[in-house]
Amino acid sequence: MKNNLILTGFMGTGKTSLGKLLAEKLGRCFVDLDQKIEQDTGLTVPQIFEMYGEKYFRELEKKAVEEVSQRRNLVIATGGGTVKNEENIRMLKSSGMIICLTTEPEEIFRRTERRGERPVLDGGEDRLATIKKLLTERQKFYAQADYTVDTTDWSPLQIMNDICKHFSL
Ligand code: S3P
Repeated sequence: MKNNLILTGFMGTGKTSLGKLLAEKLGRCFVDLDQKIEQDTGLTVPQIFEMYGEKYFRELEKKAVEEVSQRRNLVIATGGGTVKNEENIRMLKSSGMIICLTTEPEEIFRRTERRGERPVLDGGEDRLATIKKLLTERQKFYAQADYTVDTTDWSPLQIMNDICKHFSL
């Protein structure tokens, strides 16, 4: 049965915090793709970007998606850019439901202000403009989720209850 719950959405939408909470409530294992990549390589995500570039990070990410998509009963948090790859969407969908968390760009800006943690945001001069540009580019990928929740004004507990109600969990 394809019963994984896969949380996707832009950086700063709360995928990891919600994933932990949801996994605990449902008694499932939680897998955070970025953390898995960091454990598998012994490097942090910013280090991988710096040493090997984004393309290599995306290859590692795809491999991690392949692995988790073989498993069941998981709550999975993807990275914000995981769904840029249609093949990743296909694999994830074959293993469960994709839930997309959305948040207003200004709130994402506040939550991701610290530099050195999100390499895709660190390059440009105007961080809010970079966030808005990437959100627009990625909209068509996030739109493929099975369910979408706006998390801007909600606590993790409220989001979790909404998801559980929607999927009768
Ligand atoms: C990325 C998001 C990050 C991480 C990497 C690239 C992106 O994950 O995978 O820095 O392209 O949006 P989070 O969304 O968990 O911050």
